[in-house]
Amino acid sequence: MIPVGDLTEAEASDELMRLADELASHDLAYRDAAPVITDAEYDVLRRRNDDIEARFPHLIRDNSPTQRVGAARAEQFSPVQHGTPMLSLENAFSDEEAADFDAKVRRFLKLGEARIAYTAEPKIDGLSASLRYERGVLVQGATRGDGRVGEDITANLRTLKEIPHRLNGSGWPDVIEIRGEVYLSKPDFAAMNAAAAEKEERTYANPRNAAAGSLRQIDPTISATRPLRFFAYALGLTSAAFAASQHEALAKLRAWGFQVTPQTQRVEGVEGLLSAYRDMEALRPTLTFDIDGVVYKVDRLDWQDRLGFVSRSPRWGVARKFPAEQARTVLEAIDLQVGRTGAVTPVARLDPVTVGGVVVTNATLHNADEIARKDIRVGDTVVVQRAGDVIPQVVEVVDPDRKGRPAPFQFPHTCPCPLRTPLARETTAGGAETVVRRCTGEFACPFQRIEHLKHFVSRRAFDIEGLGEKQLQMFFDEGIVKEPADIFKLAAFDTASLKKLKDREGFGALSVQNLFAAIEARRPIALDRFIFALGIRHIGETTAMTLARGYGSAAAFMQAMEQVAAGDPEAIAELDDLDQIGIAVVDAAGRYFKEAHNQQIVRRLLDELDVQDAEAVATDTAVAGKTIVFTGALERLTRDEAKAQAERLGAKVSGSVSKKTDIVVAGPGAGSKLKTAAELGIQVLTEDEWITLVGGGL
Ligand code: IVH
Repeated sequence: MIPVGDLTEAEASDELMRLADELASHDLAYRDAAPVITDAEYDVLRRRNDDIEARFPHLIRDNSPTQRVGAARAEQFSPVQHGTPMLSLENAFSDEEAADFDAKVRRFLKLGEARIAYTAEPKIDGLSASLRYERGVLVQGATRGDGRVGEDITANLRTLKEIPHRLNGSGWPDVIEIRGEVYLSKPDFAAMNAAAAEKEERTYANPRNAAAGSLRQIDPTISATRPLRFFAYALGLTSAAFAASQHEALAKLRAWGFQVTPQTQRVEGVEGLLSAYRDMEALRPTLTFDIDGVVYKVDRLDWQDRLGFVSRSPRWGVARKFPAEQARTVLEAIDLQVGRTGAVTPVARLDPVTVGGVVVTNATLHNADEIARKDIRVGDTVVVQRAGDVIPQVVEVVDPDRKGRPAPFQFPHTCPCPLRTPLARETTAGGAETVVRRCTGEFACPFQRIEHLKHFVSRRAFDIEGLGEKQLQMFFDEGIVKEPADIFKLAAFDTASLKKLKDREGFGALSVQNLFAAIEARRPIALDRFIFALGIRHIGETTAMTLARGYGSAAAFMQAMEQVAAGDPEAIAELDDLDQIGIAVVDAAGRYFKEAHNQQIVRRLLDELDVQDAEAVATDTAVAGKTIVFTGALERLTRDEAKAQAERLGAKVSGSVSKKTDIVVAGPGAGSKLKTAAELGIQVLTEDEWITLVGGGL
């Protein structure tokens, strides 16, 4: 083979033509999972193509692999950190809940009875994606992932005709993240499925699943063959403001070359929200794409900023969902499922039935009282419903008065686990019995242990790719993974073991390698995720974040928790003082860490990890690191807004004044807290002084 440096122009041109064809045929063979050359051989060809092009850029052909997608042959997608988190929306299921949303927005912004302008947009039933443009050029496209970190699917997204590689027109910020929904139209979906059926290839249950399957192809040449479309509807990070309202932003997105949903309306007040919903309901059957509701957004972007978000959802938006879809089927059995906290939930096993495009085989029955109230019996024909992503439910029994019905369901008194531990009916603080039945086996109960492990690897916790419930169950059943720390010892275990993972069914050399890499990648972990992953009762993501910020490091957290468990009053007061931490969390944390067994599990896990200190919130503001107490009536800000603002600026907001308090912001009517502040010599500010201190911030 002639070295690239010695090629004449004519030889180079011939060779590029040959290479383009050859590489394209290998891409196709690879796509069909029947490669004819090895990856290394492919890489040699590809490198030669690229080297020749580098020497003779004017000879680059349109059909060169560097110009086409399909060049990337990655085994998995790499992670991408979003510039700003991709949030999800709270749901509203009724007119009342839509009205509540409007009321909350007005209350938060102190707007009294003013009629607020909203956009009402179709809620497209697809998959969200984020597109990053720098100086008008598409540089990256990502899935939502866990909201903070998504997967790099740039090559796939570039194959969508409705995603511009360069923005049209002008006036865009240097850096902008544009968010929207990737979806398949109903006719395209039908045609795609029909063609697949003809070729005896896999078909999909609904357009959303088909879009997901098409987008998540490692090989972008496959995505390129699927008729995926894109609607833009939101912004992430933007380096400069370019619109004052959502509808203005949508108009700009359209001018820059995106599709935006033409059904979007700008409406005012609750009446506007409700009538937009009715309009959308009427339009739904005529649309060429699936929608599952209406998204309401406060139109003014400065108000959106002020409203901010709670946990994972913005306060400025809500999804008004269409009612659930229903179907009838036969209830074949009632099984019991044991959750992470021992709560025993009855589950309906159903004769498979399609509800709203998805095959349903299980539905939750909630608890024993619910079964009794609805008088649900094995063998009954029941109405099942499913709405959005929620677990399907049994709504009612069809013809409950029919003759020859079987006997009512008897709720067992013992856990279905091999230990058959007795179930206890939970009581409230006041001693009243609740509907929840719990297995009293705690960690001795294998059903609870496996649920803890599932929670540990779940998406919002350690999110270990390749370690799904199935694999985890197998490792658990074989005794290889008994507690979280064992996951991090898997690779070492496999090296020492005779029965290698790669030789097991469902695994291969590559998937094992990927699994070990995914586990390794999680050794460095954010403190809040670590805390959340422990699965302590009452400690969800928001509380975990509060604890992480409150204690700063894993060492400080552990020390404090052990002190709390030992009943140290100062440690308990410190925990209780953290914002929105109440007695339930103090109790649950105390109970969890009092168990020597739990402490050891956490210690062994910590030995495997590199837990990162809590993300320093803003440190360069006038109030960073300070503890603030708001008391009395506020006139310019609402309580929630003042609190959100203080937290954004790195302050901690507490509900009670103590010697740890740095500033008390007191409005009219402030009482005992103001008095305590004076006694302790704590700085007291008026609301106006506070607003000046934090730089206006409005
Ligand atoms: S706004 C902070 N607008 O619904 C929310 N989302 O539950 C940012 N979706 O993840 C998204 N149509 O996948 C927005 N017109 C629309 C939407 C929409 C569909 C999806 C999207 C998002 C989910 C939120």
